[in-house]
Amino acid sequence: MPHLGFLLLVMLIGLCAADTKGKCRLHPACAILGGHCVKDPTDPIDCRGRLVPDGCRPGNCQCCIPGCPEDEGFFLLPSTNQCFKYFKDRPRNWTESNELCLAENLVMAQPYDAVNLRSYIVQRYGFYSEFWLGACGDGTYIQWQNNGDIIRSTNPLWYPNMPGNRITPVYCLLLLANDGQWKNDPETPYYSEYYVNVRYTLCE
Ligand SMILES: *[C@@H]1O[C@H](CO)[C@@H](O)[C@H](O)[C@H]1NC(C)=O
Repeated sequence: MPHLGFLLLVMLIGLCAADTKGKCRLHPACAILGGHCVKDPTDPIDCRGRLVPDGCRPGNCQCCIPGCPEDEGFFLLPSTNQCFKYFKDRPRNWTESNELCLAENLVMAQPYDAVNLRSYIVQRYGFYSEFWLGACGDGTYIQWQNNGDIIRSTNPLWYPNMPGNRITPVYCLLLLANDGQWKNDPETPYYSEYYVNVRYTLCE
């Protein structure tokens, strides 16, 4: 029978090797905000705070900043633990929404759970609450600005007949959030909208 100490050593070496392989690396952008990296941002156990895209590498790692301060207007979406800030002071065009998020040291939202997010916002902020998300057309697809991921036309979240040919840079991603859309088409909140039109702003 092999020595127990030897077995433990073999296990430890194995664990370390596995950890280094898929390890998340912290970038200054995350460190400066007091954050740390988490591997699976959709696992609520992993991050008790708000997630900031792009603070960690590789791509599926996310920067987690502890806390989601409600007194500063943030809210935490329980299903994915993503922390958002919603601005319903006045509607803005997409460019202005983007500038508002950046001015707050945030980015436009890229939700992991758009269906639950819409449901949360309609219930909390009322009947007409449509808001811009951080993705616009690149000529072929609607593309997330935070990580470059594309939203294919086959994505099940698209509202019927969307995005069609609304994939040029003058179209950006809108989350349909009024009471009627939420009740009638609960599973399809994505809409491609002309970027000059004004809607509310959601940052993360
Ligand atoms: C967006 O809104 C701002 C502020 O009203 C305005 O200055 C800007 O021209 C608008 N941009 C577009 C593309 O409509």
